[in-house]
Amino acid sequence: MVLSPACRPVQLARLASSATVKTAARCINSSSLQTSLLPPSQRLASNPSKMPPKEQLQFGRVFSDHMLTIEYLSDKGGWQAPKIGKFEDLKLSPAASSLHYGLQCFEGMKAYKSVSDPSDLRLFRPELNMKRLSNSMHRLSKPGYDFDRKELIECISELVRVDQDWIPTGEGYSLYIRPTVISTHPYLGVTTPSSLLLYVITSPVGPYYKSGFAPVRLTTDTEYVRAWPGGTGNAKVGGNYAPTMLAADEAAKRGYDQILWIFGPNDEVTEVGAMNVFFLLRKTDGTKELVTPPLTRGDILPGVTRQSIIELAQTWNEFEVSERTITLPEIREAAHENRLLEAFGAGTAAVVTPISCIQYKGEDIDIPATGDLTRRVFKDLMGIQYGRIEGPEGWSVRI
Ligand SMILES: Cc1ncc(COP(=O)(O)O)c(C=O)c1O
Repeated sequence: MVLSPACRPVQLARLASSATVKTAARCINSSSLQTSLLPPSQRLASNPSKMPPKEQLQFGRVFSDHMLTIEYLSDKGGWQAPKIGKFEDLKLSPAASSLHYGLQCFEGMKAYKSVSDPSDLRLFRPELNMKRLSNSMHRLSKPGYDFDRKELIECISELVRVDQDWIPTGEGYSLYIRPTVISTHPYLGVTTPSSLLLYVITSPVGPYYKSGFAPVRLTTDTEYVRAWPGGTGNAKVGGNYAPTMLAADEAAKRGYDQILWIFGPNDEVTEVGAMNVFFLLRKTDGTKELVTPPLTRGDILPGVTRQSIIELAQTWNEFEVSERTITLPEIREAAHENRLLEAFGAGTAAVVTPISCIQYKGEDIDIPATGDLTRRVFKDLMGIQYGRIEGPEGWSVRI
């Protein structure tokens, strides 16, 4: 196990003898997981009868019985003992700096139940979500960002095991997991927080596509910008999402499902809605290229699905896979020459979302949807997530 420098003394102390309270608080430590919020009679009893019929599930509307909470308190040495208790409202100072200055970041991941063996529970590349959470915390100057990622994965795994009856069975069904870190720092000064609450809630979800793929129509014609170099576009912070609502509402009024966010004088593509974006092009020499914009500018969220699609497509060795700048004029030209073969968004919620149209400077650029590559990526990633297809080492993690 690779430990961050801040965690190492704690881990060693734990191995050598029982760690002192002072040092044990520095890191997230799954072995001190407490379930003491509930009276013994109710402790860790799940009641999935409150779950609506799985066909009626709507994203993020119902929550499982329990939540994980871990406090970070600078004056008590850092991370405190993790607790799994009942899902309940938070008690927070109205002065908490998460409510005033957006000191909030989060993750989105899923737990999957094998269709053939309901005791086979899995996470998909959770290490990447932990790394991104740590980066988001760091970007907001939150202390404790160098937590032990494996320990937090173990705490989340325990939460999923406790509420496993809330994972609906069937391919496409899963338990959405929402780790969140808010500042509980109860003062109005604009400053690095000294106290945090990391909490994890879970919500059963159904397939994104109830009856076949639903391609989306995008517009780039908006006065708003989602992210820029040096900003927070590459971190999963709440402040990236609030400013997109007005733009999305305006796009919906004009008949478009989502915004394809562009940046800079050359109209470089960044992301679509809250997804990464891919284009399959036929190059002028006749060969194919799968293109997604690069992470180098810092204005794109490093998606787990994005990384997985890149790595998967590289193993196929059938076409070039490029992380490179791609502009709207290039996309328009390829479409006019019938060389834009497919386009899709990629993210945990839907895996892939086919794109059928992009509005650019008043013109609707039509794109063939849904193509073979979009279907293949969807089928292969889902197969790996549910343990039906053997994926690369470490992708589908049994818990
Ligand atoms: C802005 C944004 N981009 C991309 C993604 C896709 O990331 P992932 O594949 O990790 O879900 C998400 C979803 O988390 C997102 O919110």
